[in-house]
Amino acid sequence: MKALVLAGGLGSRLRPFSHSMPKQLIPIANTPVLVHVLEQLRALGAADVGMIVGDRAREITAALGDGSAHGVRITYIPQEEPRGLAHCVRIARDFLGDEDFVMYLGDNMLPQGVADIARDFRARRPTAQIVVHRVTDPSAFGVAEVDADGRVTRLVEKPLRPRSDLAVVGVYFFTPAVHRAVDAIRPSPRGELEITDALQWLVTRGHDVRAGVYTGFWKDTGRIEDVLDCNRELLDALEPAVLGEVDGASELIGAVVVQKGARVVRSRIVGPVVVGPGAVVEDSHIGPHTSIGRDCRLRSAGLDYSIMLDGATVQRVSGVHGSIIGRAATVTSATTTGRKRLVVGDHASIEVAA
Ligand code: DAU
Repeated sequence: MKALVLAGGLGSRLRPFSHSMPKQLIPIANTPVLVHVLEQLRALGAADVGMIVGDRAREITAALGDGSAHGVRITYIPQEEPRGLAHCVRIARDFLGDEDFVMYLGDNMLPQGVADIARDFRARRPTAQIVVHRVTDPSAFGVAEVDADGRVTRLVEKPLRPRSDLAVVGVYFFTPAVHRAVDAIRPSPRGELEITDALQWLVTRGHDVRAGVYTGFWKDTGRIEDVLDCNRELLDALEPAVLGEVDGASELIGAVVVQKGARVVRSRIVGPVVVGPGAVVEDSHIGPHTSIGRDCRLRSAGLDYSIMLDGATVQRVSGVHGSIIGRAATVTSATTTGRKRLVVGDHASIEVAA
């Protein structure tokens, strides 16, 4: 089975981070979302990967290369404009040939994996097999209606009034019959070729489209809150490991990973926390549920439930919570003037105590 990973699109809900990096490279527990995705695909035995890339192709190819470091082989497929999920299938036709494939949205995280649903697909080989997850409000997703036997009877993209609580997760298993469907459909009112419309096309024509229910943790990492939530979930599975230096005046409690070349000095870290390679943590209180990227600097800092991207600095500021600090960004306290001085990038959001 081949794999098709969708890593194009705009990522506008993840601004300001998506101004400078594709949203699919946002680190969760210090590993980019796309690397988590590739690990899942390798576990499914789908190591021949076509990857749809848009105008952020350069950063994605620089981060993943030919995929060999992650045990997969990547063929990059450029998409000029984000014209929809079904458009991605259309332009991947040559790569996919006449094989079955799994399509994986490059911003979806399903840490518990879908091995059982993949097994069902391989065993029964319906025309298509989608993955669904019960949520209280599915209106931000594709929504599936499914009969008692697991057959999909109706699919609607982001309905105002959902008729079921089954959200469509960003992992789809297809036989080559899907190619006729994606060729047949027309753009939706939002101007995209929707994969839900292609699936509905198959349902309407009597094809066997099935749904497997995923009961583990699922996030579409499209928004800041989801990235933090997902980070917490992955950190909860962290195994402690100290590969860097921790001085005698520091205290590590619970699952703390100190990666190679990192230094922890006179600090207290309450896991789960990961401290990235080359990072320096001095006189600080960190955690829980925090990841610190490569080469970050923390001095007299206090933060929990947060993510610092590579090269970021927090100095003499405590009480930082639920925050994401961008690459090479600096957060310090005012030393002399006592005034707040902010150099804030486009679409950034800052909350300060008045
Ligand atoms: O996350 C699950 C949801 O994903 C499903 O419930 C929906 O049915 C499905 O349409 C999709 O909705 P989103 O609005 O979240 O899709 P988004 O635009 O975020 O795109 C998903 C991924 O595909 C993302 O990594 C960007 C990439 N993409 C998207 C488009 C529209 C492309 O590579 N090319 C595209 O043209």
